[in-house]
Amino acid sequence: MTGRRDFLKGTLWMGAVALAGGARCELAAGGGEMATFAAPPLRKVRVGCVGLGRRGQGAVHRLAQIPGVVITALCDVRHEMVIWQRNYLAKAGKPAAREFVGEEAWKDLCQWDGVDVIYNATPWHLHAPIALGAMRGGKHAFTEVPAAMTLDECWELVETSEKTKRHCMQLENCCYGEIEMLAFNLCHLGLLGELTHGEGAYIHDLRWNNMHDYYLNWRLRWNIPHKGNQYPTHGLGPICQYMDINRGDRFDYLVSLESQSAGFASYARETIKKPDDWRRTANIQMGDMNTTLIKTAKGRSIMVQHDVSTPRPYSRINLISGTKGMLCDYPYRLAVETKPGAGAHEFNKKLAAEWRTKYAHPLWKKAGEIAQKVGGHGGMDFLMDLRWAYCLQNGLPLDMNVYDLASWCSLCELTEKSVRNRSCSVDVPDFTRGGWKTTPPLGLVDVDLAKMGFDGTGVQKDESALSV
Ligand SMILES: NC(=O)c1ccc[n+]([C@@H]2O[C@H](COP(=O)([O-])OP(=O)(O)OC[C@H]3O[C@@H](n4cnc5c(N)ncnc54)[C@H](O)[C@@H]3O)[C@@H](O)[C@H]2O)c1
Repeated sequence: MTGRRDFLKGTLWMGAVALAGGARCELAAGGGEMATFAAPPLRKVRVGCVGLGRRGQGAVHRLAQIPGVVITALCDVRHEMVIWQRNYLAKAGKPAAREFVGEEAWKDLCQWDGVDVIYNATPWHLHAPIALGAMRGGKHAFTEVPAAMTLDECWELVETSEKTKRHCMQLENCCYGEIEMLAFNLCHLGLLGELTHGEGAYIHDLRWNNMHDYYLNWRLRWNIPHKGNQYPTHGLGPICQYMDINRGDRFDYLVSLESQSAGFASYARETIKKPDDWRRTANIQMGDMNTTLIKTAKGRSIMVQHDVSTPRPYSRINLISGTKGMLCDYPYRLAVETKPGAGAHEFNKKLAAEWRTKYAHPLWKKAGEIAQKVGGHGGMDFLMDLRWAYCLQNGLPLDMNVYDLASWCSLCELTEKSVRNRSCSVDVPDFTRGGWKTTPPLGLVDVDLAKMGFDGTGVQKDESALSV
């Protein structure tokens, strides 16, 4: 694919001079076909879950409750994690799944013909290799965030999805949060006017998890040599859906700046006794607060922040503003000009409460209560899984495609490049190669619960559900 090769060639010389000069590369036109791609309907969706840690367990518990979805394979490098989910399935009265255990067992899973979907909740460095293996083995690839860490991985996923005609979806659950879906509906109805600016973030104190929790400290090990925003999609994904990114607009360029790195080192000194422990002596590159600004082709601006190393309350910001008003979250607030020219100088509590019910997204209205019973980030995890399962069962395009994956994840490498080059402007590749101009907006997605034979009776709380 000429576009990708040109871009990669471009990255070889991508030093400070080229970046600061705002060098652009022209990409071949005519892409974007996977945005509207629909695979033949699968009445029964057979899923192989790989990576059965904190997040993967939740996936098993949610997927096991969706009609027409069967977990036929469990895979982890650690046998005990597979046994744990084997026992869960047995207790829930579900059929036994085939087990794949070992560092490279996912390769056998990708080749096994007993699965249609590979649902991947492994550490970041395994995301793209497993998704590529899945698609090359004829499976749809569903991958936790961020689904790709480098531009090369982004391009390879786009090429492979287009070539194999397999879905490659990033599991960005935050697009299915109640307030995110409400915001989407307000934008869709034009109630905030012409959209001009959005803000998203991932601000989550993960010092304990980085130092003491994740399997083999995979996340800390990634953060040590990297700068920039290495976890951009939770705040960014919903903003992109409000703004029809890759569906009428696209990222043009970005600049990124970050603070010094202090939080992890300070926390390590306080919680790890041995002075020569590698976690204490590591030279952690990742700044505590990264702030990135993106300019879109239509002229809009987006701010994205990342901070997982200071003691701050959780926030994804989730702010969207336009010519008639704005919504923001943490906590949920609304300020809307009710009469032309009247202004909206304060948040309007009454209107916020009214609109929360009146303009609730149809998917949330229909299945939000069931999703909340199952849990997992307030229900959004279950809603996301319910929706993609419905799409696969009915041969519909997915809400998030490989171009969304690639453009959202491209920030991992691009923000690092900008930060390391005095916050210079960096072009964002057009992974759709022009397809963004003709791809229709997402619209209001829905599920037909009756068709799925699902009324939510008897759904069980996902005991491992994460709350934030
Ligand atoms: N969408 C969300 O809200 C959300 C929340 C938390 C985590 N995540 C993402 O989920 C993923 C997993 O995070 P986590 O918190 O569950 O981490 P974790 O460390 O608890 O789990 C990772 C699992 O992967 C397994 N694993 C490691 N190498 C493997 C291999 N070669 N083959 C098979 N399995 C392997 C580990 O044994 C472990 O069970 C990450 O990508 C993370 O970013 C997403």
